[in-house]
Amino acid sequence: MQKLAIQGGNRLNGEVRISGAKNAALPIMCAGLLTAGDLHLDNMPDLHDVATMRKLLMQLGVAIEINGGQMVLSAANIDNLEAPYEMVKTMRAAILVLGPLVARFGEARVSLPGGCAIGSRPVDLHIKGLQAMGAEIHIEHGYIHAQVPHGVGAKRLKGARIFFDLVSVTGTENLMMAAALADGVTVLENAAREPEVVDLAHCLIAMGAKIEGAGSDTISIIGVEKLHGASHRIMPDRIESGTFLVAATAAGGDITLTDARADILENVLEKLQEAGASIQVAGSTINLKMNKRPMAVNVRTSPYPAFPTDMQAQFMAMNTIAEGSAMVVETIFENRFMHVQELRRLGAQIDVEGNTAVIKGCAQLEGATIMATDLRASACLVIAGLVAQGETIVDRIYHLDRGYEHIEAKLSGLGAQIRRLK
Ligand code: UD1
Repeated sequence: MQKLAIQGGNRLNGEVRISGAKNAALPIMCAGLLTAGDLHLDNMPDLHDVATMRKLLMQLGVAIEINGGQMVLSAANIDNLEAPYEMVKTMRAAILVLGPLVARFGEARVSLPGGCAIGSRPVDLHIKGLQAMGAEIHIEHGYIHAQVPHGVGAKRLKGARIFFDLVSVTGTENLMMAAALADGVTVLENAAREPEVVDLAHCLIAMGAKIEGAGSDTISIIGVEKLHGASHRIMPDRIESGTFLVAATAAGGDITLTDARADILENVLEKLQEAGASIQVAGSTINLKMNKRPMAVNVRTSPYPAFPTDMQAQFMAMNTIAEGSAMVVETIFENRFMHVQELRRLGAQIDVEGNTAVIKGCAQLEGATIMATDLRASACLVIAGLVAQGETIVDRIYHLDRGYEHIEAKLSGLGAQIRRLK
């Protein structure tokens, strides 16, 4: 199992290019299932989750060519409508093949994701939405079997008005893709407003879909009979951007992100300024300077445009060495504090009560061996390692490779002492 060895104490200085967003790339790859035409994608990140999605789509019959950050998908010859458990259990986003397959082929079998490290994460909203659009759904042997009955307009889903009880990012994306090929108008209410939903909508529109309102809580989709091939550039990863900015705020330094977008990071940038960082935005670059110990900052996670749950763990790491005490409240996932135990092993002072963590900043963490438990928790542990005294070994970094492109190379480029132990 691979590990990272980090020698803490270095400031971060220099430039780092931000990769394409994982959470935009995965749904957009699935959008390729909606057409027999070629989908050309640019700025694709080189990540384990992208490789897993590629493997799944190829099992369904999608032909995929890759050349650096470019990917071409052709779903002209789909011969399998099943996403097996082995795929869905390693990457929950595999559920995103469900909507496109049912919409284009009238049928799909997708494994239920089951539990995962950060909570039970059900998919009931995806299922209810497809049922409202006319799909018959049976749960059998751990699989969601969805079928559009014969007689419903040549196996086409039909448009529907769908209200989400809870804001769900992939739920919104799955139903938006399904609605793109449905017969009639679909209105998604209390839809997710995340920028990745907007990026997917842009790609679908380039493919011929008729979508209005993406980025607001009401999305209207007029179904069309066919979509065609298109080209699309994946948006920058706002969580990767935020992770580097938090790292530099905690460790101190002067870093510039290139190919980034500040307009989708507002809440995070405000919090970093509150911690004492000075931030300058110019076009697609974000510069952050930090020359003192950070001030503790409270955060409360909530759907976009509020503070993202995917940045909660990184802010926790910064708060462990901040001046003062901070409260971190997690409202999206029920079990997303597993990094707390590991941070405590470095000497952090954190109390947890339900979904609230209270962190009392200490002057210095001490390096130790710690274990990554999920993707964003891993990033938190790397940040803690960067500021701890002595050596920190982060074990089980396969979680990190799921969502951060070449993280140790990028951090080394900024002056961190970090290396991979194989
Ligand atoms: C997406 C992101 C993930 C991020 C999360 C929240 C991708 C690939 N992943 O995950 O990085 O942490 O949004 O911003 O984009 N829920 C239900 N029923 C459902 C669906 C969701 O109860 O059918 C609940 C979930 O358990 C959770 C909340 O709704 O408590 C939000 O989850 P959701 O937005 O769906 O997360 P994902 O789309 O899986």
